[in-house]
Amino acid sequence: MARILTGIQSTGTPHLGNILGAMLPGIKLSEQPENESFFFIADLHSLTTIKDAEVRRQNVRSVAAAWLAFGFDTDKNVFYRQSDVNEVAELTWYMNCFTPYPMLANAHSFKDKSERLADVNAGLFTYPVLMACDIILYDANFVPVGKDQQQHLEMTRDIASSFNHQYGDTFVVPEGLYDEQVMVVPGTDGQKMSKSYNNFIDIFLPDKKLRKQVMAIVTDSTPLEEPKDPDVCNVYALYKLVAKDGQVAEMRENYLKGGYGYGHAKQALYEVLIGKYAAEREAYNNFINNPDELEDRLKVGADKARVVAQDVIGRVREKLGY
Ligand code: ADP
Ligand code: TRP
Repeated sequence: MARILTGIQSTGTPHLGNILGAMLPGIKLSEQPENESFFFIADLHSLTTIKDAEVRRQNVRSVAAAWLAFGFDTDKNVFYRQSDVNEVAELTWYMNCFTPYPMLANAHSFKDKSERLADVNAGLFTYPVLMACDIILYDANFVPVGKDQQQHLEMTRDIASSFNHQYGDTFVVPEGLYDEQVMVVPGTDGQKMSKSYNNFIDIFLPDKKLRKQVMAIVTDSTPLEEPKDPDVCNVYALYKLVAKDGQVAEMRENYLKGGYGYGHAKQALYEVLIGKYAAEREAYNNFINNPDELEDRLKVGADKARVVAQDVIGRVREKLGY
């Protein structure tokens, strides 16, 4: 049995790019019988940038509701909120004292963030130590993440191995799993869909608002009657990712023959989204309207996670004389 672990940032409602690029592949991985997955909402990490309590609570709820709506199996796996397992903060202190300063000073993501953000706090600097502890606190074997997290994974391995070297085997040294063929979902302006570019499609929005997002997809000004090139069109690019093959072929034909406007294509995309994700949209809203149920599900996950965390933190305390 391999333990797969990954952290999900809670920065708002997951958009179509997050769903197709990260959530569905994660759920698929978690369904393999030989894997046990620990997926958690990284709400301690979010304090490096988000200071508002209500925003944090809402973000956690919308991320949790989305994962549950897409059927992440919380009986087979462990789904929890990072901050519910205090041991991670304790381990982070210990590991801070084993992390060479230059290693953190060389982190790309810190350099990048410290140039962009006004609030350059120490939490941002030691972020990789917290991330390492997220992983080694749970004896994780594999950590599926994007390539941008590779350096953090390497630091995790360094921190765990050097501790093991000094104190004898204590931590499992995890391996990163980098999916080379991750799909990049384009946004409404053709760039990569991202919260930071404000070009995302939020499939959980109420009908009218979702339709408005779809209608705002950027297209060129080819008149309705003229043939259009589907391969340069943002609407078609998104349609290809969500519609059935027959529907995609039909839209392609419509583009090529002319007399078919971008408005038609957007309406077709909207209808596919509404139809395809009807069950998930309903489940999402149920969770959002029943925060107590969400809390219960997260609590069950935290209870399961804590059992592992307490075992590992026990090993560390012992080795360090606490
Ligand atoms: P955002 O860019 O909206 O802030 P994040 O960086 O928080 O998104 O990404 C969360 C997860 O979703 C990551 O695993 C990332 O690889 C995936 N993801 C984000 N945007 C896309 C996209 N446009 N296409 C595919 N996957 C994406
Ligand atoms: N830093 C990761 C990101 O930005 C999120 C994260 C936090 C994480 N802790 C983790 C991912 C532990 C994997 C394992 O996406």
